[in-house]
Amino acid sequence: MSILKTLFVATRLLLTSHGVHANTALNNANEDDVDTLVSNLIQWVRDNGGYVNDKIDFRPIEPEDPASPRGVFAKQEIDAGETLAHIPWDLIIKSPERTKGEVEGLSKDDCGVIQETIKVMTASDGNITPYGRYLLSQPQNYTVGFWSKKGQDLFVEMTDNFLPPNGIKDMLGEEFEDICDGDVNDPMTVQAVMLVRARSDWEYLVPVYDMFNHHNGKYNIELRVNPYKSSIKETGYEIIAGRQLQPEEQLYNSYNRCGNCDVWYDWFGTPEIYLNFGFVESFPQRWLFDLARVKVDLLEDSNGQVSVKFLVPPSKKGVDMLRHQLVRLNGLSFRYQSKSAVDIGIRSVEWDSLWQYYDALHAALTYVTSANETLVDDVWIMDDNWWVQEGTTRAEEDEHWVRTTARDEL
Ligand SMILES: *[C@@H]1O[C@H](CO)[C@@H](O)[C@H](O)[C@H]1NC(C)=O
Ligand SMILES: *[C@@H]1O[C@H](CO)[C@@H](O)[C@H](O)[C@H]1NC(C)=O
Repeated sequence: MSILKTLFVATRLLLTSHGVHANTALNNANEDDVDTLVSNLIQWVRDNGGYVNDKIDFRPIEPEDPASPRGVFAKQEIDAGETLAHIPWDLIIKSPERTKGEVEGLSKDDCGVIQETIKVMTASDGNITPYGRYLLSQPQNYTVGFWSKKGQDLFVEMTDNFLPPNGIKDMLGEEFEDICDGDVNDPMTVQAVMLVRARSDWEYLVPVYDMFNHHNGKYNIELRVNPYKSSIKETGYEIIAGRQLQPEEQLYNSYNRCGNCDVWYDWFGTPEIYLNFGFVESFPQRWLFDLARVKVDLLEDSNGQVSVKFLVPPSKKGVDMLRHQLVRLNGLSFRYQSKSAVDIGIRSVEWDSLWQYYDALHAALTYVTSANETLVDDVWIMDDNWWVQEGTTRAEEDEHWVRTTARDEL
């Protein structure tokens, strides 16, 4: 089971593109506007032994437009290595086993952090923390694994069980229901599962750290102590500037290429970011089309020109499969072009998000199939590790969602 980090941008995008505010919350966060929720949260961190640097600002990306997505910004120059925030151990949501200092392995940890998140979100009015209120204010079911049945069916029609991401049904069903014995009919429980998936750093849900947006081209923050390499009971999470930051610069994390992203490093790309966090990342993007045995990075130069970097030499067979998918996608958008969310009977969050992903997928397939690259068949005689490149994951380990395909006979 794999869970990680944050979603601040996408959350706000979904909130704002439909003019809804915190009133999508399940209960008592209704009246709080986002600014109040965020400033209460920061005050709470400071009041409880934590630190948030005065030189950073949590604000809408377009200062003139309070409804624009939010991000974390430098207010003035910040030196490389300077501490941006420190979140003490006690404020981090984690499983009871972790709290006691035991390491129980994935399922207990992952189920535990979800159970604890439910407690934080359902605390009574007098006991709820600013972080609990903040989590409650997040929109519901915005990642595809948590959509309605109709929304998911349309998504599967789009990906044809061929194109990534894989495993949308596992996000809630298989893992939470089967492994954690969770109640998938309770909306608050479902919301907690989704928020942990979309915002947590594996087994830790860390306030403030979960508010930095993702950008692999502009990643400029780091953790002082890697929480997976040493105990963080004494240190908590200390977020530092990865390099010198200029005034007005946005501070970015990387949700899949960070110093502690290990098992996600190699295979986890744009589709998987979309699956887990609910947004389409900017360039650079990575696409792993497992059934076609095609793996690429899409890079953008300073003029906005996108180029394709094949990470494994592509084959004619694979590129033909993707060309077929591109034609199929054109047919799909043609069939739905005059339809709306209402016609299909799904929420507009699902509809808008689906077409946002469609555009990214369509563009990626267009880049890949029109690239002027020499085609060779070698990838089809390689074993299941054909896609493993720089990372720590291998095909036989189950920390990835890369489907295996038959090798061609020699
Ligand atoms: C979110 O999903 C849960 C479980 O499927 C459901 O009970 C709840 O009504 C959904 N909420 C929204 C706003 O769709
Ligand atoms: C495609 O690649 C070939 C061989 O490298 C080269 O001769 C040709 O000019 C390229 N075409 C385009 C459109 O870049």
